[in-house]
Amino acid sequence: MALYLKAAEILDKVERKEGAVKTLVYDSKFQNIKQLFALVCETQKFSPVLEDIITTTKLLKETKLKMNLAKVLVYDLLIGQGLKCGGSWKAMMMKHRSRLQSTLARLKVQRRVSRNQDLLSTSSQQVEGDQLPRYVRVNTLKTTVGDVIDYLKREGFSYQGQASRLGDLTNLSGKTFLSDLHLPDLLVFPPKMDFHAHFLYQAGHIILQDKASCLPAYLLNPPEGAHVLDACAAPGNKTSHLAAIMGNKGKLFAFDLDAKRLSTMSTLLLRAGVTCQQLANQDFLKVNPESPEYSQVEYILLDPSCSGSGMVCLQDSRSEPQEEAGRLQALAAFQLRCLNHALRFPRLQRLVYSTCSIHTQENEEVVAACLQQNEGYRLVPLLPEWPERGLEPLTQCLRASTTKTRTHGFFVAMLERHALGEEEKGPQMRPLVCATSPDVTCLSETEVAAQEPSCTETPPERLKTKKRKNKKKKKPKAEGD
Ligand SMILES: C[S@@+](CC[C@H](N)C(=O)[O-])C[C@H]1O[C@@H](n2cnc3c(N)ncnc32)[C@H](O)[C@@H]1O
Repeated sequence: MALYLKAAEILDKVERKEGAVKTLVYDSKFQNIKQLFALVCETQKFSPVLEDIITTTKLLKETKLKMNLAKVLVYDLLIGQGLKCGGSWKAMMMKHRSRLQSTLARLKVQRRVSRNQDLLSTSSQQVEGDQLPRYVRVNTLKTTVGDVIDYLKREGFSYQGQASRLGDLTNLSGKTFLSDLHLPDLLVFPPKMDFHAHFLYQAGHIILQDKASCLPAYLLNPPEGAHVLDACAAPGNKTSHLAAIMGNKGKLFAFDLDAKRLSTMSTLLLRAGVTCQQLANQDFLKVNPESPEYSQVEYILLDPSCSGSGMVCLQDSRSEPQEEAGRLQALAAFQLRCLNHALRFPRLQRLVYSTCSIHTQENEEVVAACLQQNEGYRLVPLLPEWPERGLEPLTQCLRASTTKTRTHGFFVAMLERHALGEEEKGPQMRPLVCATSPDVTCLSETEVAAQEPSCTETPPERLKTKKRKNKKKKKPKAEGD
C-alpha cells in the first residue's frame, strides 16, 4: 500500500512541477527505490491509456480514489506485475478487475493493436489525426516548386516561405502555405485543404501525398539513368516520385499483385507524366533476380502490404486482439520474405524498406531479422535532423507519427550493400531486444477511386514544363555521406 501511496504522491508532485521524477523518487527515502521508480515511470508512460480506462469505467466515482492513485493501482493490476498490496484496497480493485480488463481489451481492439505497449503510440495519434497538415508534393516532371507557388499566389494563397521548425506546420490557417523544412519539393497547407478539384492536381502538377510517404523515394534518391525496382508499387505515388527524382531517365520496374490497383496506377502515372516505368502485374516474390533484365538494378524501393496501423483514418476496430496478433505475424513473415528476396538482386546497392505501420513487428523486427540473415548489408543512418528515430537499437531508421513529425505513422529503413569485414559506419548493430510478421494498403479503394480521373487539359503558360538537365550522380541523403 505504501508503494502506491508514494508513487501517487510523486506523480502529483510532478504534475505540480515540484521536481523531476528521478529526484523526487530518490528524495522520498522509500525503502525500495528501484521498485518505486519503475512504477512511477511506467504509470507516467501509460498515463493517457490509464486515464482513458479509469474515465470509461467511472472508477473514481465508484471507489473515491484520486486519479494518480487509481492510475498506479490500475497500472499494476492490468499492465504491470499484478497488485502488490492486500487488504481492503486489493479487495476493492479485484471487484472492478473484470470491467477494467474488458475496457483495456476494447481499447486495443479499437486501436487495432495486440500488445499493451502498442497502445502508447496510438493514443495521441487518434486525438491529433484530423489536425494533420495537408501535404502537397510538387511533381517536378511537369513543373517547378517556384511555378506552383506563383500560381497559387495568383489565386489568393499566401506563401509564408520555408518552415524553420515543426511547429510552423501546425500554425497554418485559411489560405496560407509553406515550404516544408525537410523535403524540398513539398508544400504544406492547413489541415483538410481540398485540392482534388484543383487544376494543378487534375493536371498532375501536384500530388497529394503525406510527408512521411515521400520519405522512401527521397531517401533512396536514385540518380538519372539508374535501374530502379519498385517491388509493391500500386497505386504508385512513390513510383512517380522516384521517376521525378530520376528525371524520367533510366528504368523503373514496378510490380504489383493487384491488377485493379495497377490499372489505377497506370492512369496516375500517365497524368504525372511518368515515362520511364515498366509495369508488371506480377508477384514480386516470383520475379527472378537473376534475369538479365534486372542485371543493372542498383536501387530497390520495398513498400509492402502492411497493417496500415499508422494511417490515422484506418484506426478503427477491425478484429479481435488474437486475430490481430496472427495477422501481424503473417504480415511480418511476408515482409521479411520480400526483403530477403529483394536483397538477392545481384547488382543491388541500396534498398529502402518502408511501411505505414506503427508496429515493431512489421518494422524494426523485420529489418533486424533481415540483417541477421544477410551479413553483406547494413543500415544507413538517415536524416540526422529527423525528430523521430527507429526504436533502439535501430536508430539509423526513421519513424513518423502525428505527434512527433505531424504525419501519419510510418517507418523507413535503408539498407546498403557493404564488403564483408568492412568497418561499420553507423552505430554497431546488435540484435533487437523486443518484447515480443493479407492486405491493408496505403489508400482505401475509395481513396484510390477518388484519385482516378485523368485530365488532358493543357497546362497554362505560367506552369511551363520544367526542363531538366542531366544532373551529376547524386549521393543518397544519409548521415555521414
Ligand atoms: C503499401 S501498398 C504500396 C503503396 C505504393 N508503394 C505507393 O506508394 O503508392 C502495398 C502494395 O503491395 C501489393 N502487393 C502485395 N503483395 C504483393 C506481392 N507479393 N507482389 C507484388 N505486390 C504485392 C499490394 O497489392 C499493394 O498494392
